Amino acid sequence: MQRILVTGAAGQIGSELTPALRERHGSTNVLASDLRVPAAGSHLSSGPFETLDVRDRSRLQDIVSDHRIDTIYHLAAILSATGEANPQLAWDVNIAGLVNVLEIARAGGVRHVFCPSSIAVFGPETPRDPAPQLTVLRPSTIYGLTKVTGELLGDYYVQRYGLDVRGLRYPGIISSETPPGGGTTDYAVDIFYQAIQTGRYTCFVRQDTVLPMMYMPDCIRATLALMDADTSRLTRHCDYNIAGLSFSAAQLAGEIAKHIRGFVCTYEPDFRQAIADSWPQSLDDRHARADWDWRPSFDLSSMTADMIQRLRPRLTAKRA
Ligand code: NAD
Ligand code: SER
Repeated sequence: MQRILVTGAAGQIGSELTPALRERHGSTNVLASDLRVPAAGSHLSSGPFETLDVRDRSRLQDIVSDHRIDTIYHLAAILSATGEANPQLAWDVNIAGLVNVLEIARAGGVRHVFCPSSIAVFGPETPRDPAPQLTVLRPSTIYGLTKVTGELLGDYYVQRYGLDVRGLRYPGIISSETPPGGGTTDYAVDIFYQAIQTGRYTCFVRQDTVLPMMYMPDCIRATLALMDADTSRLTRHCDYNIAGLSFSAAQLAGEIAKHIRGFVCTYEPDFRQAIADSWPQSLDDRHARADWDWRPSFDLSSMTADMIQRLRPRLTAKRA
């Protein structure tokens, strides 16, 4: 039985990945951790939780030893928009945190590490539609720099120390349970909340902005499938491209309008437009498809319908 630590578990992905891991491995075998303490009754209350700043190596080491952790899902990070507001913090959390995880793993006990990468590894010189698996990685954000470094560092620990480190280049993740934490793709989640609550949304990227996205159930499935995959089949380690769906902001608004009559979306691009413009529109994920049978299951229409079906009762009840 695996003993798992999830860092950054209170975030958008951790709050859904942690329950999925608990479902498979048993609640007591999956320890959630984060800087912030989750609210009572949150998605993390189904099992143990520890407060942890991933920059604190000795606390991380104590937690790993005390709980006999052998697998770490390392989700704690500063995302793209927050990273541009505080580049030094982004470097510190994303790099120092990852080095701590890898060094503690190298010292023994921890055998498997999952560390997500991002479409932010790509930059304006990368082919955009689709971004190949092996291509130019010259990002223009500090977040992207940390993700390229993280991929290379993870691969180094695989080659040099024989650790099992795996990672995916997540597209923008869309989900209904926990709001996203300071990214550029966050508009694709905010728009649902505002559409249901007010019937209007002011979008911070242009209407013709196309980005790769993925619905949370596909994100969880991809993560678990990569971690389950037989090592002998893997031709990559920390940098698998995975594609879900790609759409423009206007296409998403149009799809939402099919469910919410009279929905109006306007566009007022801010600093996040430049970040979005530096990222590709779609990803070539043939390696993930060949190596661990990756296939997305949600398209724009099914994702939108499911988001609205989940959010509408919750947000409407809150208003009443
Ligand atoms: P999030 O911002 O929602 O959650 C990150 C969590 O990390 C937060 O709960 C935060 O409190 C915690 N955290 C921040 N600093 C910390 C520190 N010093 N120590 C411990 N915890 C700290 O992010 P997310 O969307 O859940 O992302 C998880 C991972 O997936 C990150 O590595 C991110 O780069 C990657 N990713 C996410 C997306 C996406 O669209 N959500 C896309 C690509 C990659
Ligand atoms: N969703 C993330 C962001 O926008 C991409 O990694 O920062």
